Amino acid sequence: MTKDTYSLPLSTTHSLTLLQNTSSGTSGTTIWPGGRDLASYLALQSQKGKLSLHKKRLVDLGTGTGIVGLTAAHCGASVTLTDQEHIINGAVLSENIAANADETAANGGNISTLVLDWNIHAQGVEGIDPPYDIVCGADVMYDISFAEPLSHTIAALTDTKSTIYIAYERRDPLVHDRFMEVMKELGFKGTKVTKRATGKIQDQDSLVDIWKFKKVAVKSLPADA
Ligand SMILES: C[S@@+](CC[C@H](N)C(=O)[O-])C[C@H]1O[C@@H](n2cnc3c(N)ncnc32)[C@H](O)[C@@H]1O
Repeated sequence: MTKDTYSLPLSTTHSLTLLQNTSSGTSGTTIWPGGRDLASYLALQSQKGKLSLHKKRLVDLGTGTGIVGLTAAHCGASVTLTDQEHIINGAVLSENIAANADETAANGGNISTLVLDWNIHAQGVEGIDPPYDIVCGADVMYDISFAEPLSHTIAALTDTKSTIYIAYERRDPLVHDRFMEVMKELGFKGTKVTKRATGKIQDQDSLVDIWKFKKVAVKSLPADA
């Protein structure tokens, strides 16, 4: 295990310190650009008073090291960090939760974890309690085969009041277009949050787009979704 620590500035005085393992052979033990940028965006919007996270129920999909969810919890949200079993029960995420627990609690936030695989119907997963106020997913849309299961999971966790933030670099237009197509079929409307809106604590050279979705029409999910 090659461990190092990553520090994400959340404000001029506070940083979130996270452990990462750069030799685990899986994608979920390192910090990805989408996670870095979405976490920075949430922290900045919260500081500016443009986004209220305090006591909001938030699910972080494909949380990996926990960067997005732990940032939201630091801002006072009640967060469920979700991923596949080996990440949820892995050392990196567990250590990051423990390292940030006291400060999260002091800020009114709350952290729990749940194994949630997008290929398993979310409504049948014990511990899931939709609708959530906010659903986040950073760098979770990198393979075209994820478009349907990920979108169906988002649909199962949300209602028309929920806000969904998805962040990733648009590397492959086919992957991006398919995700947008399925989200639209499921009744979601997406708008791109401009990079400028994320302000100074985001890397200005970043290629990450942050998308904000709202459910504007309620569509029923296919029975096997
Ligand atoms: C590229 S990493 C991003 C991690 C983190 N969100 C970040 O931005 O740093 C993708 C994450 O999605 C998770 N993932 C991949 N397929 C999944 C699935 N079918 N169900 C749930 N999580 C999945 C991986 O385990 C990994 O943690």
